[in-house]
Amino acid sequence: MEPIFSFDTTGDKDMHASEAPQTLQWMDDSATGYLRMIDQTLLPTELRWLDCRDVRTVWEAIRTLRVRGAPAIGIAAAYGVCLGLQPLTLTDPERFLDELDRVIEYLAGSRPTAVNLFWALQRMRLVGAEVAATTESAEWLPALLAEARKIHEEDRAMCRAIGRFGASLLADGVSVLTHCNAGGLATAEYGTALAVFFSAQDQGRRVHVFVDETRPLLQGARLTAWELMQREIPCTLICDSMAGQVMSEGRIQAVITGADRIAANGDTANKIGTYSLAVLAQAHGIPFYVAAPTSTFDLSIDSGDQIPIEQRAAEEITEGFGRLTAPAGVQVYNPAFDVTPARYIHTIITEQGLISPVDAGRIREVIGSGQRDAGL
Ligand code: MRU
Repeated sequence: MEPIFSFDTTGDKDMHASEAPQTLQWMDDSATGYLRMIDQTLLPTELRWLDCRDVRTVWEAIRTLRVRGAPAIGIAAAYGVCLGLQPLTLTDPERFLDELDRVIEYLAGSRPTAVNLFWALQRMRLVGAEVAATTESAEWLPALLAEARKIHEEDRAMCRAIGRFGASLLADGVSVLTHCNAGGLATAEYGTALAVFFSAQDQGRRVHVFVDETRPLLQGARLTAWELMQREIPCTLICDSMAGQVMSEGRIQAVITGADRIAANGDTANKIGTYSLAVLAQAHGIPFYVAAPTSTFDLSIDSGDQIPIEQRAAEEITEGFGRLTAPAGVQVYNPAFDVTPARYIHTIITEQGLISPVDAGRIREVIGSGQRDAGL
């Protein structure tokens, strides 16, 4: 792991959309290059890049949330496949496919919930199989890199489209609540839930965003508030437990979150705390929107019951930021995601259009043909 350069971001408000730092970048155009990523664990106090020159560094970065957010995890893993094969000189197609599988299985073990990871790895596998059967060995690694770049570029375009579709749902002057971070940091750029705000802003509409701090790792406080402030979108940080009170005071007209995996019936896994927000939103008559690209849908599972929920270390709750905040040895339960049943979701905003009502039929209608099997 090699930290590159960094600077203090405290009080830095002069960055505009066009200058937003790239979450992920493949350095050097050739297949011998490497992956540069923002180390998100250091934000908001420090913006520092990490250079990944081997697959182990990518695996560790995904596992420890240096890179996080469903689409960004998928993109990083795709580049990770290239790094995993880079040191090997492979000329035999069978051996190449064995090694490809080994690297893919390794990366697939980094985190379990975001389906974008498995979707991207499956794309890499399909391309690997195709080139192994049809081209010379010198073409294999460049072809994999080309696919990783394609996944990266497609995500960029999907986020822009999500922003445009989502912005149509927001009236001028609206106040919206979001949870976790579904912004540029979590994607190629621009984000999913945050893309809706960015796009509304680009269209000249005023939006105010309430930001849940998002316990235990504070992706809302550390990352979403940072991104919104960089773009000069008015925002107010609240503790997760304040959402009900803020809704009851009439301060919120919509809730928009991202997603990590959406089942065929619309049940949606997202950062822990999302489900509670959806229930609260329904109790207050506030529409609850999910913004996600088609790469986040898993049509191979019927409902949210089949979504694996990541369990994370107790220390994230008891001493998340270096200070013990609970008695040593206390028993802890730390699921990193929850599943919001489709009945609480008003609309899913995708790059292919709006899904409403949220049910299996409408999902198939809007994205059915655009989604590939994520099964590994
Ligand atoms: O644990 P994280 O930070 O990877 O969780 C991220 C989320 O839950 C996001 O809301 C989701 O991945 C969508 S990102 C566009």
